[in-house]
Amino acid sequence: MNIRDAEAGDVPAITEIYARSVVEETASFELEPPVETEMLSRMESLLDAGYPYLVAAENDGVLGYAYAGPYRPRPAYRHTVENTVYVAKEAQRRGVGKALMLKLIDRCCESGFRQMIGVIGGAHHQASIALHETLGFEKAGQLKQVGHKHGRWLDVVLMQRQL
Ligand SMILES: CC(C)(COP(=O)(O)OP(=O)(O)OC[C@H]1O[C@@H](n2cnc3c(N)ncnc32)[C@H](O)[C@@H]1OP(=O)(O)O)[C@@H](O)C(=O)NCCC(=O)NCCS
Repeated sequence: MNIRDAEAGDVPAITEIYARSVVEETASFELEPPVETEMLSRMESLLDAGYPYLVAAENDGVLGYAYAGPYRPRPAYRHTVENTVYVAKEAQRRGVGKALMLKLIDRCCESGFRQMIGVIGGAHHQASIALHETLGFEKAGQLKQVGHKHGRWLDVVLMQRQL
């Protein structure tokens, strides 16, 4: 497995990985999976703004991806990033998510960002909470019933790591 910068050619695989999670899970609070052009435009906006966007590649296939973006848009938040990481179902529990996140953390440190926030959709989402804990994130709070998806109310768990 090779962790490298994402390219436009990775967008179809990224779109597919994300779409499955949007439809089946609560990690993202989006309700409809975005199309490839929208995913490409989101990637370009992040790269243009200087945030890292990485993929885990194996045998020309994409196993997962991770990126950092602004935590909130107001400029005083500019040293703080929100992280995102998605791994294809078939590739989970093989260390892909952790490898992506370790590289993402390195890249964010190199770029001078100071804090990383994980915004976890659903307090039941043990995989994501455990992954963040493994990486040194600490729980910073829990917002109650701020989302509604798949017929149920969802909390958001905020996790924070100093960079
Ligand atoms: C969360 C997610 C990225 C984890 O990716 P992954 O490649 O499966 O995780 P890894 O194999 O690198 O696991 C690293 C550690 O995280 C924890 N972990 C990962 N999946 C877990 C699970 N299902 N249950 C409990 N702990 C889990 C473990 O501590 C694991 O270490 P171990 O395998 O040595 O026990 C993946 O489940 C995923 O894409 N989920 C859907 C999208 C999502 O929730 N993204 C996070 C949004 S910020």
